[in-house]
Amino acid sequence: MADFLTEFWKALYFLISPYAANAFPPLVKGKRAIDFGKKFIDGKRLLGDGKTWEGLIAGTLFGTLCGSIAWLFHPKLNKIALDYGFSIPLITPEKAFLLSLAALLGDMSGSFIKRRLGMERGAPAPVLDQLDFFFGSLLIGFFIVKITIGIIIWGAVLTLIIHRIANIIGHLLKIKKEPW
Ligand code: CTP
Ligand code: MG
Repeated sequence: MADFLTEFWKALYFLISPYAANAFPPLVKGKRAIDFGKKFIDGKRLLGDGKTWEGLIAGTLFGTLCGSIAWLFHPKLNKIALDYGFSIPLITPEKAFLLSLAALLGDMSGSFIKRRLGMERGAPAPVLDQLDFFFGSLLIGFFIVKITIGIIIWGAVLTLIIHRIANIIGHLLKIKKEPW
């Protein structure tokens, strides 16, 4: 299989936990702000009401769960991959937990940056809104998974596309206020 295709499958597998972790929080309708309503030295909210403890905890657990299920399938998937001359990164439940948590920390960093730029909760910040959680997972991923250039590029491309589609669906289903 061509390299860019094998990299695609690796990226897809890597993204399972981060995606699950990032997609779940809007469903839990959390109320307790992670920043406890506190303001930063610039007088603006530290993170804002869009980042809640319920979202952080439920998202991390859901990401870990999905990553663990993917881990159960790793031997089977890797066997198929090996037939095509590549291997799927091994992401254990512990690693899935770290990647999920990192995704949500990345998402929080995105909100932190938006607040510093004076943007209200939910204001669109193209690219940052879509990739913050992926960058978070990638950052931790470098230490615990064999990250390749292909995973980075495919990860970013897939994330931009899937995030857009998912948010439009979420908006239509009235789970999310804004379609971004
Ligand atoms: N969410 C949450 N806790 C988190 C992350 C997300 O409760 N740690 C929920 C919030 O209801 C949030 C929704 O998921 O509104 C969508 O997340 P996101 O788009 O990241 O937040 P925004 O509301 O757009 O806020 P921000 O401008 O800070 O990105
Ligand atoms: Mg948003």
